[in-house]
Amino acid sequence: MPIVYRNRVFTLSGGDISYVLHVNEDGKLMNLYWGKRVPDHAVHPELSDYPGFASFDLPVYWLPSELPTLGQGWYGTPAVDVLNAQGDHVVDLRVTEHRIIPGKKGLPGLPAVYTEEDGEACSLEIDLADPLTGLAVTLQYAVFEASGAITRSMRIINAGPDPLSLRGALAASVPLWGSDYDVLHLKGSWARERTPVRTPLGQGKYEIGSQRGASGHEENPFLALCGKGAGEHSGEVWGVSLVYSGSFLAGASTDNAGNSRLYMGMNPQVFSWLLQPGESFQTPEAVLVYSSRGLNGMSRIYHRLYRTRLARGFWRDRPRPVLINNWEGTYFDFDEEKLYRIARDGKELGVELFVMDDGWFGRRNSDNCSLGDWTANPSKLPRGLAGLSDRIHGLDMLFGIWMEPEMISPDSDLFRAHPDWCLHVPGRARTEERNQLILDLTRKEVREYVTEAVSSVLRESRADYLKWDMNRNMTEYFSPALPPEQRMESQHRYMLGLYEILEEITRNFPHVLFESCSGGGGRFDPGMLYYMPQTWTSDNTDAVSRLGIQYGTSIVYPISAMGAHVSAVPNHQCRRTTSMEMRGDVALCGGAFGFELDVTSLSPEEKEQARGVIARAKELRGLVQQGIFRRLLSPFGARYAAWQFVREDGKQALICIYRILSEANMPPVRVKMHGLDPAATYRDETGKLYSGASLMYLGFSACIPGDFGSCVMLLEKVE
Ligand code: GLA
Repeated sequence: MPIVYRNRVFTLSGGDISYVLHVNEDGKLMNLYWGKRVPDHAVHPELSDYPGFASFDLPVYWLPSELPTLGQGWYGTPAVDVLNAQGDHVVDLRVTEHRIIPGKKGLPGLPAVYTEEDGEACSLEIDLADPLTGLAVTLQYAVFEASGAITRSMRIINAGPDPLSLRGALAASVPLWGSDYDVLHLKGSWARERTPVRTPLGQGKYEIGSQRGASGHEENPFLALCGKGAGEHSGEVWGVSLVYSGSFLAGASTDNAGNSRLYMGMNPQVFSWLLQPGESFQTPEAVLVYSSRGLNGMSRIYHRLYRTRLARGFWRDRPRPVLINNWEGTYFDFDEEKLYRIARDGKELGVELFVMDDGWFGRRNSDNCSLGDWTANPSKLPRGLAGLSDRIHGLDMLFGIWMEPEMISPDSDLFRAHPDWCLHVPGRARTEERNQLILDLTRKEVREYVTEAVSSVLRESRADYLKWDMNRNMTEYFSPALPPEQRMESQHRYMLGLYEILEEITRNFPHVLFESCSGGGGRFDPGMLYYMPQTWTSDNTDAVSRLGIQYGTSIVYPISAMGAHVSAVPNHQCRRTTSMEMRGDVALCGGAFGFELDVTSLSPEEKEQARGVIARAKELRGLVQQGIFRRLLSPFGARYAAWQFVREDGKQALICIYRILSEANMPPVRVKMHGLDPAATYRDETGKLYSGASLMYLGFSACIPGDFGSCVMLLEKVE
């Protein structure tokens, strides 16, 4: 049984993981353990050293609380922070009831991981109440039986007679014994997304987050604590990932007793929520993953869960079409004929999907107008969307289109008709970024407009694919439509509004492949993955930069979720020139593969190379998008990068080694593979035979001369 309850102790177990909670004599909920799997009744309060030793601090500060709150001796970040009608923040929550339920429920209005059969997971709900104020909380857990991934969220209810103001709400706050940890997170910026940063955790707090109204380029809603010796393949790692696309707070802290805590949830800087009597607030969901097999062990659990039980719909398990996108090929300078020629030449090379990017609507010839006016520009598309789409479909290709539905240009018909439809503060300047403002999705009429605008574009164009972009962050993030005492709800209400729109559109257009984008990877998070199975990883398409970006992204996200394209050289973002082979080998092992250049301008030799890269991408995409991925050599500060894929049935493996800068007189690089059958024989594409043991313990060796080279080798298990 994945969840057992005995002697006031809950033990949640799955895969190689256990998570143990205890209701103490005061009715407070404590976390006794989260780590390697233990027998059902092996961890009990007598084994833990709480609360019994003397201190000048109140014992509460040292208790391993599962739900720390303010006012009774807890001095850290509260998991739930409420300002009550008396004007104080004291919260005293005690357990009243619990329920153990097969399967896992969804969260109303929010993305969440799911089960397809009840047997996959087991859920636990624990009710707590504060009798003085009427505040009630239901903690919601589910443990996935095969992997041991644990989801954690809470519903906060005002069961009292007076309004309550919710000022903070974490999805998870988990204590860990000891403090000998490194904290790991994924930092970045536009075109430099998700670089892993690992720092020793000292006494105090290490916090990251976003106040941008999007998860952001700068930080990802993910944080892990790593045991000191933990590396890619061994050691203990505790990860937390938030299924949410808006602002967030994440932190790790160590107290003066030398114990630690990992937490993540709403960012109180940009959030509060008024709870009238009888109302409730649902937090987003955190996904907790423990691994005793290093970072790759953690990533494997996230990858499988997010690929198969977070992403949804028709395209979830299907090979993604090879696409060509015209953005870097033409930017805004195109018309139907130019696009058709790109599609036609792409088709010739083996491309399956043509995507028309920004610039097809309103009067948009640069980024300074027309967002919101989603009708085709007749001077570029004289036969409208349907005319171009028919011609692309006539080539036996799929047709895709770009939109940025959450935005409004001040120079647009939509803005002239509805100047109040954007987030803003009356009487203050509206800060523009990329010459645009953000639609107020807290308002029903605005949501209806967006839903209808996107739907009519999809209907008219008969599009098979939509790139849903979002190219700025929030500044004056308030909705004047809300009463002043609720304006701090604007950011979260915006996210709920966006999720409502996405739910409706993805339901109504179930065969459309949706790709999320935000200036590249500025909203690459589990929340968007629930609606869209792939995300444009970065606007940086340089092959060498992409090694780091794809490596960092893979810490949490499955390879199938990443969009990766071959673009022109010198590269438009960093001016580097790399070979077609290197660009191809990075992109085709980087997830949903495509081209992003003007193929009509390629020489016959380059076209031949491109044809080869596309054929290779099609041959390998099943393995890349559905296989088991492992990072082998980190590109950061190194001369090589490497990763590998193994098919679920073990019959094929792919080793991918990339040379960054070369040196004179260097021996071949040797890379140890993982997860093979040591007793089996594998044949590479040159016919050479290897034992699994030699590939794993001695390594695969490759000689890659010159700068920016690659070796991508398929290994077949010989029966
Ligand atoms: C963003 C996207 C790009 C492209 C442009 C169009 O920057 O990340 O891929 O679609 O917008 O304006």
